[in-house]
Amino acid sequence: MRAVDIIVSKRDGRSLTRDEIDFFVAGVATGALPDYQASALLMAMLLRGMTLEETACLTEAMIRSGTRADWRGLPGPKIDKHSTGGVGDKTSLVLAPLAAACGAVVPMMSGRGLGHTGGTLDKLAAIPGFRVHLTLDEIGRALARTGCALIGQTEQIAPADRRLYALRDVTGTVESIPLITASIMSKKIAEGIDALVLDVKAGRGALMQTPDDARRLAESLVAIGRRAGLRTEAVISAMDAPLGLAVGNALEVIECLEVLKGRGPADLVALSTELAGRMLVLGGLVPGRSDACRLVQGAIASGAGLDRFRRIIEQQGGDPRVVDDAARLPAAPHRHRVAAPRDGYLADIDARLIGRASVALGAGRDRLDDEVDPAVGVVLASKPGAQIRAGDPLIEVHYREPARLDAALPLLVRAVRLADGPSEPPPLVRGEVV
Ligand code: URA
Repeated sequence: MRAVDIIVSKRDGRSLTRDEIDFFVAGVATGALPDYQASALLMAMLLRGMTLEETACLTEAMIRSGTRADWRGLPGPKIDKHSTGGVGDKTSLVLAPLAAACGAVVPMMSGRGLGHTGGTLDKLAAIPGFRVHLTLDEIGRALARTGCALIGQTEQIAPADRRLYALRDVTGTVESIPLITASIMSKKIAEGIDALVLDVKAGRGALMQTPDDARRLAESLVAIGRRAGLRTEAVISAMDAPLGLAVGNALEVIECLEVLKGRGPADLVALSTELAGRMLVLGGLVPGRSDACRLVQGAIASGAGLDRFRRIIEQQGGDPRVVDDAARLPAAPHRHRVAAPRDGYLADIDARLIGRASVALGAGRDRLDDEVDPAVGVVLASKPGAQIRAGDPLIEVHYREPARLDAALPLLVRAVRLADGPSEPPPLVRGEVV
């Protein structure tokens, strides 16, 4: 078989066979396939599309490029949640300890921030000492002791995805539903779970900008999950404005702790509860969603979720004292307030611009090897819909270097839109694929 024939076949719009896809993925995993041929095929896949059958073959080949974890020896359903990424999207840190406190076993594998979107791994890395790179043995021990492991992609899980993702990131081939599906689902299936709740984000701050594209992605993810025998469902949620108020790694950890203490912003509490509730139902722990959500709310009210988070942090080498003393988290040396120029109503906060501003401050990466500053970011004073007076604070910027503040400020000012009259913020949950 020759790589060039496979590229030509896809370029001309034909469906690839299982053997051709296996050849491609094996070449990527071993390094036998040069980057230029892998990239050419990725571009042909993006432009010509792939059938569900091809997407399933690609997912399976990517799983076989590494190990498939097996936690069947541990009691309890193994359940995860995956979000397609957004700005201020921190539900993982809230719902993983809550679901574990309610009886789920949560082997949660997350990624670093991508472009303007934040990543759970970067947020966890803001907790002093927290280790996200665990071996499969260490993950097993963490699951047995705390019911949860919050980890980065290991060398053993879907290694072909690592190389493919790095190529996609620099060749304009990220935004393809079949490629995103195979990338996400290969890692999730290889993680050894029984059930998966997907949070597919739709809007300006998301990978999928329109509700229709988000639905197509959700349907593709759910179909591939089910083919692999995984109980899978998806929620489509809004990502036009940031989720919650904080954007930036340590700032988001503080906001998650607030939610677990019963005090977080309403949208973050609502989405975390909804997703955790769905995890409990899909995992077979609770029969109905309203009971499951009540159980999750009970784990917040009793402090069981907060206590579980403390244990997870300790188990993974982090400083558990941050749970009761947020001052132990990294803090930026300077603050700057963006104030409202006039009276009005907060009509809109553009998640993409807020995400780009937080990258400009150093909270994310422009290049793959950039260092992330865990302390910097922004905290919004209000959510869309709020009434504002001239001079009211709109955004508090936590920064280290004045030059970075200068780069972020014009984006922040553009991100906020004031209107003369009130408007109803759109619903957070836009749909589901069940
Ligand atoms: N997240 C992933 O893991 N893969 C993609 O392709 C996109 C988002």
